[in-house]
Amino acid sequence: MSFEQVKVPSRPELVDFHGVPMVYFFTDNWENIQNFQARPDDILIATYPKAGTTWASYILDLLYFGQKERQKSVPIFDRVPFLEIFFPPCLSGKDQADNLPTSPRLIKTHFPVQFVPKSFWEQNCRIIYVARNAKDNMVSYFHFDRMNLAQPEPGDWSNFFQRFMEGKMVFGSWYDHVNNWWKKKESCPKIHYMFYEDMIEDTGREIDKLCCFLGLSPSAEDKMKVTGGVQFDNMKRDDMANYSTNPVMDFKISPFMRKGKVGDWKNHFTVAQSEQFDEDYKKKMKDATLLFRTEI
Ligand code: A3P
Repeated sequence: MSFEQVKVPSRPELVDFHGVPMVYFFTDNWENIQNFQARPDDILIATYPKAGTTWASYILDLLYFGQKERQKSVPIFDRVPFLEIFFPPCLSGKDQADNLPTSPRLIKTHFPVQFVPKSFWEQNCRIIYVARNAKDNMVSYFHFDRMNLAQPEPGDWSNFFQRFMEGKMVFGSWYDHVNNWWKKKESCPKIHYMFYEDMIEDTGREIDKLCCFLGLSPSAEDKMKVTGGVQFDNMKRDDMANYSTNPVMDFKISPFMRKGKVGDWKNHFTVAQSEQFDEDYKKKMKDATLLFRTEI
């Protein structure tokens, strides 16, 4: 049975899992996931939810596999399996990854760094981490939780705002996620740490950096095709990229490809919320080398 045919019974509750708030869809297959056998050429796309995972996945998929037939018939969430998802009777993300016919295999995860299966480190796999500024990430997550019926109830905005700052989100605290991956990158040259805001500012430049990291040298024409193909409006129109075939998402509430902007937080945060957030942010984000832009 495919993901497309499944309905979610009810919204899951957050549970503490090894110190990280999670929902059972991402923990029930834990042993199998931890025993996942990575291959040296696997590429892991790691993000905090709503940081630009689909965008990065699409870029990598186009860079490696171009405008092949599968671009028109296979949704991005099947081309780039979500390692930890476990949604019986659908094939688990782990099994999907095992069965991927491509080389390299592109695999997505939202795990905090300490949850990544050890074989990715043992095999010295390349990892692309995408981070997005907390304010826009929070807004995007709020709308996602409204429309994704497999996520916990978001509640109203002010409630969600508090919960985000407390780190009570699926996959845990944004602050821990981005910081711990950043620290890991310092000792692991196989991690390429990207920022959503940089991708918005100059997609072509960020694709060049990515290619450099991956050892790819696409022709100018191919690079142009990728850069053009992954623009927000193109992906939003493309049913294989926009998640419209996914039944757990209610597009009447909000689309998956929602705005794709830097600074949309200004339409959601009150002045008081922004001040409260900034105060709290300073206490949590002590590493002066990890800097985010909330506008460009
Ligand atoms: P918004 O909700 O702010 O619009 P993820 O893939 O990690 O779930 O992230 C989804 C967010 O990335 C959404 O943000 C979505 O619109 C944005 N996004 C996806 N593709 C994009 C693109 N090509 N350009 C800009 N933003 C994109």
